[in-house]
Amino acid sequence: MPATLIIGTQWGDEGKAKVIDYLSHNIDIVVRYQGGANAGHTVKVNGDTYVFHLIPSGILYPDVICVLGGGMVIDPDAFLSELDALEKRGIQYKDRLRVADNAHILLPHQKLIDSKSEESSGNNKIGTTKRGIGVCYSDKVGRTGIRVADLYSENFYKNRLPYLVQHNNTILKKIYEVPELEIQEVTKYLRTTADKLRRYLVNVSYYLNMELASGKKIMLEGAQGTMLDLDFGTYPYVTSSNPTTGGAITGSGINFQYIENVIGITKAYVTRVGEGAFPTELFGDEAEHLRKIGNEYGATTGRPRRVGWFDVEVIRHAARVNGLHSIAMTKLDVLDSYDTIKVAVGYELSGKRISYFPSSDYENIKVLYEEFPGWKEPVHECKNFGDLPKNARRYIQAIEKFCGVPIRLISVGPSRESTILKK
Ligand code: GDP
Ligand code: IMO
Ligand code: MG
Repeated sequence: MPATLIIGTQWGDEGKAKVIDYLSHNIDIVVRYQGGANAGHTVKVNGDTYVFHLIPSGILYPDVICVLGGGMVIDPDAFLSELDALEKRGIQYKDRLRVADNAHILLPHQKLIDSKSEESSGNNKIGTTKRGIGVCYSDKVGRTGIRVADLYSENFYKNRLPYLVQHNNTILKKIYEVPELEIQEVTKYLRTTADKLRRYLVNVSYYLNMELASGKKIMLEGAQGTMLDLDFGTYPYVTSSNPTTGGAITGSGINFQYIENVIGITKAYVTRVGEGAFPTELFGDEAEHLRKIGNEYGATTGRPRRVGWFDVEVIRHAARVNGLHSIAMTKLDVLDSYDTIKVAVGYELSGKRISYFPSSDYENIKVLYEEFPGWKEPVHECKNFGDLPKNARRYIQAIEKFCGVPIRLISVGPSRESTILKK
């Protein structure tokens, strides 16, 4: 497969990084195509845990090239501290890291604005990660952003930056009542960033298409998930980028015809961090129990994740929007102890059965459930589909049927070896 695309099908944290790490062994290049340090991607190898925020999850393989794509928003402080962490752990990265010159630079004041606007929005808060993501993407769309390539343009420093500083200062002063930016300081910050990023710069579309044309294999790494997509998620409780297939194309610049395999990553149940609709959400003791056994606390902010039952309608939506060829299901082991497991198999809206994920009116969704008998034994040592208990196989096969997409990979634990491939 020239290019394989890995996408979250739910509200993020599906275990994308675990699957990407597992599948990266015969890949040449891993490309993150959107998002920023709002992502928390956990990889567990040989008892060691790594959490990546900006760096692609293929970095642990010494021969894999890792690319930060043009659809990303890059916080230089977060990026450099992640590089430090890699260095401290003895991971060589210098010759196999690339940064797209059309990616946007995320500045400290954008993080401040994200926090301030969350704090002041009362019941309308989104529950963001406060990493400045929405503010940086707003600037990108409003054409007041700063791209990596701009850091190397004297024309930019002379003619554009003074305007951008003035523009931001109006907002900082009048709306947020916080200290204004000093042009000298911003210039120094950007020039220092320019020096540190210089060696990694790449014209991403040219580079990736050349590599594909020469036979290299690429994996595209999505952050967040389909239901957090700016266009196809539960707006406005979404992130400000497109984690879906469209975003992979614009965020990497690869010719879409190279994408031959789209894999949707799906937890065996559902989680969500932050505000917004969640039709199968559990509450009270039931929620607390699943959160605890699933260790559902955010890899970036440490916030407890909201939890709920598997929702077929969400996956059907993700299958349509992304063109999924297959599903990788993670965290099956978390359900080991249940007597019965519920699955949402459809919705009713205002008394009518619907067969799509609606764009509003979420509070009026009535969820239709089916119950499946649990397997009541540990699955984490299973190596083949046939090793799984009968009821676990039935659960997987029922979900395949409901979603209309084959499940080809099943993860039964956080580490590389706890992975089952299925035909
Ligand atoms: P991502 O953002 O989609 O990459 O996912 P996160 O890293 O934020 O969250 C997934 C969490 O589940 C991490 O702590 C993983 O180590 C863990 N994980 C991944 N797959 C499995 C699995 O099959 N079983 C269990 N128990 N944990 C898993
Ligand atoms: P990974 O890649 C889960 C959520 C936030 C909030 C909303 C908007 O680890 O799956 P933002 O900071 O992006 O403006 O916040 O999106 N969110 C995530 N939830 N996993 C993520 O990334 C997320 N990145 C953002 O909690 O609800
Ligand atoms: Mg995560």
